[in-house]
Amino acid sequence: MDRQAVQERFGIIGTSAAIYHVIDRARQVARTDITVLVEGESGVGKELIAHAIHEMSPRRHGPLKIINTGAIPEGLIESELFGAEKGAYTGASEKRIGLFEDADGGTVFLDEIGEMPLAAQVKLLRVLESGAFSRVGSSTLRKTDVRVLAATNKDLGREVEAGRFREDLYYRLSTVIIKIPPLRERADDILPIFETFLHQLAQKYGTARRRLDESAVQLLRQYRWPGNVRELRNVAEQVVVLHRGETVTAEAVRPFLRGVTAASTPGTALMAISRAAPSEPDAFRERELIYRALLELRLEMRDLKEEMAKLTAGLGTAPAREVFEPGDLPPERRDFVILGEPDKEDYGGFIEDVTYEIEGDEDPLSSNGRRLEDAAPETGPPRDEPPVPTLEDAERTLITKALKYYEGNRRQTAKALGISERTLYRKLKELDEDL
Ligand SMILES: Nc1ncnc2c1ncn2[C@@H]1O[C@H](COP(=O)(O)OP(=O)(O)O)[C@@H](O)[C@H]1O
Ligand SMILES: [Mg+2]
Repeated sequence: MDRQAVQERFGIIGTSAAIYHVIDRARQVARTDITVLVEGESGVGKELIAHAIHEMSPRRHGPLKIINTGAIPEGLIESELFGAEKGAYTGASEKRIGLFEDADGGTVFLDEIGEMPLAAQVKLLRVLESGAFSRVGSSTLRKTDVRVLAATNKDLGREVEAGRFREDLYYRLSTVIIKIPPLRERADDILPIFETFLHQLAQKYGTARRRLDESAVQLLRQYRWPGNVRELRNVAEQVVVLHRGETVTAEAVRPFLRGVTAASTPGTALMAISRAAPSEPDAFRERELIYRALLELRLEMRDLKEEMAKLTAGLGTAPAREVFEPGDLPPERRDFVILGEPDKEDYGGFIEDVTYEIEGDEDPLSSNGRRLEDAAPETGPPRDEPPVPTLEDAERTLITKALKYYEGNRRQTAKALGISERTLYRKLKELDEDL
């Protein structure tokens, strides 16, 4: 497959020398069984490249098993990877097949490998060197035929120096390194990716075509994109859904950029709702705020659910599904939203499920020509909204935000929240049942 065919087949957009280099390396290594370490910040496309390598490899008819090391509680990693015999640890009531056994004949993708505990690293090194491993609670050696791809957003060399990563494993993993530079270092890719997303998402949501004006182009190229392509996609999605009018200006994009204005911080719109007193002329603005808050929540929930789906898939439970029902909203907001069937194929689909029914106004997104940011929040006690969220709501928002911030890394999330991993695990389960 030539480079262009690879880009088309796997949807890898970009025309920078850097992305071409990445694709060419992926093509070269695909036909071998060499262990590959994909390096890069979060959201640069590490998983996308790992998929492409597997699909271009002779193992493409075998399984591709993905595990996010940072998202598995430390005590469970070894049994997830290598399996466990019945009774190997408390709660192990059944024999468990691990990922390496499951992936026999295929590929294992170890995401966030820098998070792997040292004890599991020893076992990983052995399986890399000889294909041999043993289940937790057993000394019987088993064999597996697996190709390993790994990814990290950390500098593993530094982790080695700090004593958190085994040097021998590092050498074994770094035979071939594919480094994907952050988006800000390949600015030429920003516009092609953004415009492709705008186009795809406009089709998906059935909204009109958008055109970026010169000021928007400048802003998109200059922005640092800390969340890389993942963030770019979120921004494109918000533009497609929330921006009115064909031409997109810098002013229209800016509120959606993380860290550029306060309004773009997840959750801010929600807080603005509970702060702002909805006086008569602001009714439209309030609706727009609510809509924005819903969209933000949905984007956050989608990310969270994707993480949950990956996790629960690994733990043998049914994957989380995106379902959003009127009951998810406080009663005073339910009349704004009527939801249909959730999108069956795509976790991300939701806007098309949302129908607005607001009395006396067929177009809830119109805001009297006023921009959301122009209206300063009023002070004074709100009338319709409770002044503070319930503890449960606050906890839910916090956990969601923290998980998103740490990209599903539950160890770091639990630490940041000051709770144990086990507590976080339980709360996530409860949350998932509630959502
Ligand atoms: N060059 C690219 N062209 C198109 N989409 C991309 C590109 N790079 C990444 N993406 C998309 O961005 C999102 C994040 O990519 P992902 O591979 O999950 O990043 P990482 O594993 O590095 O965090 C995914 O939806 C992916 O399909
Ligand atoms: Mg990833």
